[in-house]
Amino acid sequence: MSVIEMSASNQESARVDKRPVLELRGISKSFGALTVVKDVSLDVQAGEFVSLLGPSGCGKTTTLRMIAGFIAPDEGQIILGGKDITEMPSYRRDVGLLFQSYALFPHMTVRGNVGFGPKMRGEKSGAIAEKVRWALSLVKLEGYEDRRPNELSGGQQQRVAIARVLASGASMLLLDEAFSNLDAKLRGRMQEEVRELQLRLGIATVLVTHDQEEALAMSDRIVIMNGGKVEQIGTPKQVYSSPGSLFVADFMGRCNRIEGTLLNEGAKGWFLDCGPAGKIRLDAPPHPDARAGEHCQVFMRPEHLTLSQGTRDHREGLKGQVERLVYLGSRSIAYVTLDGDIPFQVHLPNKPGPAEEFPVNGPVAILPQPGAVTLLPD
Ligand SMILES: Nc1ncnc2c1ncn2[C@@H]1O[C@H](COP(=O)(O)OP(=O)(O)OP(=O)(O)O)[C@@H](O)[C@H]1O
Ligand SMILES: [Mg+2]
Repeated sequence: MSVIEMSASNQESARVDKRPVLELRGISKSFGALTVVKDVSLDVQAGEFVSLLGPSGCGKTTTLRMIAGFIAPDEGQIILGGKDITEMPSYRRDVGLLFQSYALFPHMTVRGNVGFGPKMRGEKSGAIAEKVRWALSLVKLEGYEDRRPNELSGGQQQRVAIARVLASGASMLLLDEAFSNLDAKLRGRMQEEVRELQLRLGIATVLVTHDQEEALAMSDRIVIMNGGKVEQIGTPKQVYSSPGSLFVADFMGRCNRIEGTLLNEGAKGWFLDCGPAGKIRLDAPPHPDARAGEHCQVFMRPEHLTLSQGTRDHREGLKGQVERLVYLGSRSIAYVTLDGDIPFQVHLPNKPGPAEEFPVNGPVAILPQPGAVTLLPD
């Protein structure tokens, strides 16, 4: 089957067959006494882009290497296209792996690099040339066939590496920190290009990254890992705005945190008593079996808060004083110390015209916007 037929049939099967392309069923891996991947389960659907995101050493690369077949799990199963491949050697797996270093063969031309997979499989030269042409056109590198890797920029080398994976006919793309060697601007452009290409080909992809913005920008779903375990799986919006644990809330961007006790004021609704810092109104009952007096951890994103001057008129809201206001172009950051000595940040979008001033050491009140408060029981 040619690569073109393959990707077309992939898309066809995506519509017909709802079965995931890849299933990890409770996989674990230890090195010596250290268990670095613990009971990880995950389904990747046809055409889906999934990121494994987490701090250094949390087991992301180890998980990806098990999918690629470079190491075997101690427990669990790996199913690819409905077939158990747990014991299958890496070279027989239908997955294309792309590392941070592109691992191009330096002595080979672009043509040689991209055609390497089909050539190793003993395909005819006409078929190889067709695949090379197809893959290079997808990554917009027609005309570069005779160059060697050292005659290409970083972004071009990465495109060649992607073309090589595509020409090899992989049914899945695995990317390990694939963009982290590129400077910030090029990184952003390659992220967009790869996502666009991935959507166009409908090729299921797993990206390993410790860069949360990259994961948010590229993924259909994000798997947050911590200490070898899955903490949460969700869409970028779900993991960012409804963190399921303290770890996810802290890891996914800047989050303010305070402790509070639930108050039920009948017709007036539910409130959170945050001690000396003040009281905030909740827009809905916190959870179905919430009870007054329950103690919770409270999270609020800095960009989901409003800041106003003075506290005397405010019966609701968190009270404190502005320590510092930092101008950052598109937004400013107000560093606030709440009464009770709790540090808080409020991000204020900068609009045209004069901005509202918040005098240093002046009293302020912070009010969460609707839906801004996430509660986690203690
Ligand atoms: N071959 C190995 N032998 C022994 N320990 C290993 C081996 N490979 C990885 N580890 C350990 O397993 C843990 C997880 O490593 P892994 O490479 O999966 O982390 P990661 O999440 O990809 O981190 P990073 O973001 O730094 O790349 C680390 O503590 C690492 O030292
Ligand atoms: Mg890694």
